[in-house]
Amino acid sequence: MTDSASGLICPKCEQPLIANGKQWQCPNRHSYDTAKQGYINLLLVNQKKSKNPGDDADMVRARTDFLDTGIYAPISDALNAMVAADGVILDIGCGEGYYTERLQTHVPQASVIGLDISREAIKGACRRSKDITWLVASGARPPVSAGTVDTIISLFTPLMPPGLNHALSDKGEIITVNTGPRHLMQLRELIYDDVRNEGFVPTAKMVDAGFECIEERVVTYTATVAGGEPLLALFNMTPHRWKVKPERVEKLLSVDSLTLEIDVVLHRFRRQTDTQ
Ligand SMILES: C[S@@+](CC[C@H](N)C(=O)[O-])C[C@H]1O[C@@H](n2cnc3c(N)ncnc32)[C@H](O)[C@@H]1O
Ligand SMILES: [Zn+2]
Repeated sequence: MTDSASGLICPKCEQPLIANGKQWQCPNRHSYDTAKQGYINLLLVNQKKSKNPGDDADMVRARTDFLDTGIYAPISDALNAMVAADGVILDIGCGEGYYTERLQTHVPQASVIGLDISREAIKGACRRSKDITWLVASGARPPVSAGTVDTIISLFTPLMPPGLNHALSDKGEIITVNTGPRHLMQLRELIYDDVRNEGFVPTAKMVDAGFECIEERVVTYTATVAGGEPLLALFNMTPHRWKVKPERVEKLLSVDSLTLEIDVVLHRFRRQTDTQ
């Protein structure tokens, strides 16, 4: 990606951004700085629902600590196997960049952009790689030129179809990664009285938005997580941390280790083809 043809656009007026040293400017003179960590902040104040949207520093740290154990590496490997080797890849809601960095290393010819609404997450991502364009931005309207992204990744992140539609090229593909019904069942059994088999299936929402599913892949395995800090890190990076009573967290902390089912579903989508 050269500075003069970055593919990035101004979030205010949607004109191309051109780099001038560490500053990015559009023809309407809106300008954005590259932070010392290396990311560009393209999130407008009116795109924020709170002062610091997205994952906070504690959640980011927990995610990094857990992902660095390698327990989710098979999920990352399955994702990498589904991605074409070149073109522009945009990881929407990339978090602290574990999967994005492993993907970029897997397809070094590709031009990889990692985007997240959380500044803390993107600061962490900058530590993982200097070969990726890291953006603090909203996935609802990714600040990239329309129709320029060949592969979009949406991994354990809220689906934002308008953003996907804006960014994706005509022949582009979207890969989603979501939890399957038995994901982390044994952890959920420890912290809830009533545990249901639940997962998230993105297909209906994607079909409504004009996409069709062309591949589905299920990744299941078991992994043992040591008690104490590793298990707490896993718990703290999940949305369960907001829902669970303190006494149940203590129960979680009392186990020596936990053998868990990992159950994750990957889908590949493209724009619906006209069948008439
Ligand atoms: C569960 S985390 C997943 C992070 C990463 N994909 C991973 O699996 O490690 C969800 C991420 O989505 C981000 N997020 C939430 N809403 C967003 C939005 N509107 N635009 C961009 N990112 C968003 C959060 O800040 C968080 O980092
Ligand atoms: Zn502008």
